[in-house]
Amino acid sequence: MTKILLTGGCGFIGSNLAPMLIQHGCDVTIFDNFSKGDVSYLPEREKFKIIEADIADEDAVYNAAKGVDAIIHLAALGSVVESVANPEENFASNAEGTFNVLNAARRARIKRFVFASTGGAIMGNATPPVNELSLPKPISPYGASKMAGEGYCSAFSAAYGMNITALRFANVIGPISAHKKGAITVFIRALMNNAPLTIFGDGKATRDFLFVSDLCKGILLALQKNKPGFNVFHLASGEEVSVEQLARTICKIAGKPEHEIKFENKRKGEVERNFADYTKAKEVLGFSPSVKLNDALKITWDWFLENEGPGT
Ligand SMILES: NC(=O)c1ccc[n+]([C@@H]2O[C@H](COP(=O)([O-])OP(=O)(O)OC[C@H]3O[C@@H](n4cnc5c(N)ncnc54)[C@H](O)[C@@H]3O)[C@@H](O)[C@H]2O)c1
Repeated sequence: MTKILLTGGCGFIGSNLAPMLIQHGCDVTIFDNFSKGDVSYLPEREKFKIIEADIADEDAVYNAAKGVDAIIHLAALGSVVESVANPEENFASNAEGTFNVLNAARRARIKRFVFASTGGAIMGNATPPVNELSLPKPISPYGASKMAGEGYCSAFSAAYGMNITALRFANVIGPISAHKKGAITVFIRALMNNAPLTIFGDGKATRDFLFVSDLCKGILLALQKNKPGFNVFHLASGEEVSVEQLARTICKIAGKPEHEIKFENKRKGEVERNFADYTKAKEVLGFSPSVKLNDALKITWDWFLENEGPGT
């Protein structure tokens, strides 16, 4: 049985990934400070060992890491907008935090490590489609923190013989995301409350949306492959979708195709066009996303209706 330490396992992606790891026969210890996530998000929480601690506490990570086979490091502050407002907090959590998790892994002699990076924010306004050869040029502290994390992953792999895979996630959609502050959660809430949808900018900015179960399959593939050295992969859908298109699709799914959409000033740190080419992940890992955007949005909308109900 593969023993996994999953940091940030009580958040959106973690609480979708953790049950999948159990289904694949893993023994999962979750390490989370509950700053954004919550134990209640985890289905079948009795199946997990849960440690409430902060990755700022390197010894706590080290104690949790002793004896595991692999670490999947998701814990981070994931908001571009919040990182612009509070770069110090973002740096401590994401850049220093990732260093601490890597250093704890080195001390505990863990050789298998998967790091949650980002495909949009790390690239800034690089011309899409981006791939692993594109030059990262972040325009937000969040993007910079993930670039720093990848830098340390590369260095720790070379200096200490660790197999480290950095996965650059696209914009992830799916259930258990009510606490998130991204466009999809905000649009769905507005529709449920019969309020206008607000788009920051002219709506022409583009993103690449990936359903959470497809993303989690990609994480599992990377874990299983355990490629030697340091490797980077984009996990994406490869489809460019504008924010306005996204808003209009969600309105249709909610049965309100004529719902009001307002446009406000663009926010600092948010990239314009972004989508990724996932050919390398397909060829090397066998990654192949299967859930189409419309279906992903429908499943997410239904989850919100069932779990939040209109008017919350
Ligand atoms: N959701 C996306 O679209 C997306 C896209 C690209 C990259 N990512 C990355 O994927 C990872 C998971 O994202 P998510 O969407 O599940 O976010 P999330 O906020 O739902 O989950 C993050 C979890 O980490 C925990 N955490 C945060 N700081 C911590 C700390 N200092 N110590 C311990 N635990 C801490 C939070 O409590 C939360 O449970 C993050 O690294 C994020 O940057 C997410």
